[in-house]
Amino acid sequence: MINIMPINIERVKHSRLPEIDFNNLPFGRIFSDHMFVADYENGEWKEGQIVPYADIPLSPATSALHYGQAIFEGMKCDRDANSTDVLIFRPQDNARRFNQSAVRMGMPEVPEELFLEALYELIRLDRNWVPTEANSCMYMRPFMFATDPMLGVRPSDTYKFMIITCPVGPYYSKPLNVLVADKYVRAFPGGTGYAKAAGNYAASMYPMTLAKEKGYDQVLWTDGFTHEYLEEIGTMNVFFVIDGKAYTPELDGTILQGITRDSIMQLLREQGVEVIEKKINVHEIFEAHKKGTLQEAFGAGTAATIISISGIGYKNQHIDLPSAASRTVSEKVKKHLNDIKCGLTNDIFDWIVRV
Ligand SMILES: Cc1ncc(COP(=O)(O)O)c(C=O)c1O
Repeated sequence: MINIMPINIERVKHSRLPEIDFNNLPFGRIFSDHMFVADYENGEWKEGQIVPYADIPLSPATSALHYGQAIFEGMKCDRDANSTDVLIFRPQDNARRFNQSAVRMGMPEVPEELFLEALYELIRLDRNWVPTEANSCMYMRPFMFATDPMLGVRPSDTYKFMIITCPVGPYYSKPLNVLVADKYVRAFPGGTGYAKAAGNYAASMYPMTLAKEKGYDQVLWTDGFTHEYLEEIGTMNVFFVIDGKAYTPELDGTILQGITRDSIMQLLREQGVEVIEKKINVHEIFEAHKKGTLQEAFGAGTAATIISISGIGYKNQHIDLPSAASRTVSEKVKKHLNDIKCGLTNDIFDWIVRV
């Protein structure tokens, strides 16, 4: 029997809200007053609690720290432009993906009702933390990790599921210069690429540092066999616009199934743009650039929504993409998506949950 209601709430005595400069929000460093915590023990989820945001005590032997059973989600909510409602974007999809990650990492699933009710309750409580400023919003971070205080490689028996939230400004301040991976791999068929597992990001840090040393902002990951088929960027899926058509790498188990990616595909089709999911070879992109048919490239993910790619490096070659004036496809779809997220236009696909 899953015990999800009611969620116990312990409120902060003094809110930190008056101390926050909402015109100057760094990404992911300022946390709202409260957090949600639920423990998994003896094969079931215990009653969840909302408590003041604070450090948590952990055993040095905590299983997740040693063997990496840790997963997370990233999602956003905005203020409704026309009411006091807070609009959460596609939370059910994040709940589903969270459980796909949990299964792959040998962790217990979190019942969708628990995931969603905890999220809604937390947002209700900290709704004044959701920024009203342009280009700012609330980022929500549900996560789960193994808590057995034990050394030994086996799935943990105990887990913590938590949600923390933070008001955030823009993730990137300028278009990205990306380096195509030709040595290191983020994911491999049969691996954990489609899961939002902490270890996937850990493995990307070193290649990202090397890319930065070469003057690039991010790595554009490729398949592990040929290093020619493009997969995704750091925390984003990738799109290319060639001759008026939008292309994105097909999902093959090594790529995260992005909710922004899916939203963009639906919106582009709605706008009459043909969208093609396929294997995309880096040479096709360089060839299209040579012929003058590569109009734009962009990354798509919750943190940045849509961010243009200004340059692509591959081995000893580099191309600079056409300038801002030609980014008509991404600018239009970005506006449409942002307008839906803020309640400025019809939510034609029923993506928004109001709290
Ligand atoms: C590796 C990776 N790919 C793609 C995405 C984009 O996914 P979404 O649009 O659901 O945020 C993310 C961000 O969550 C990511 O971390």
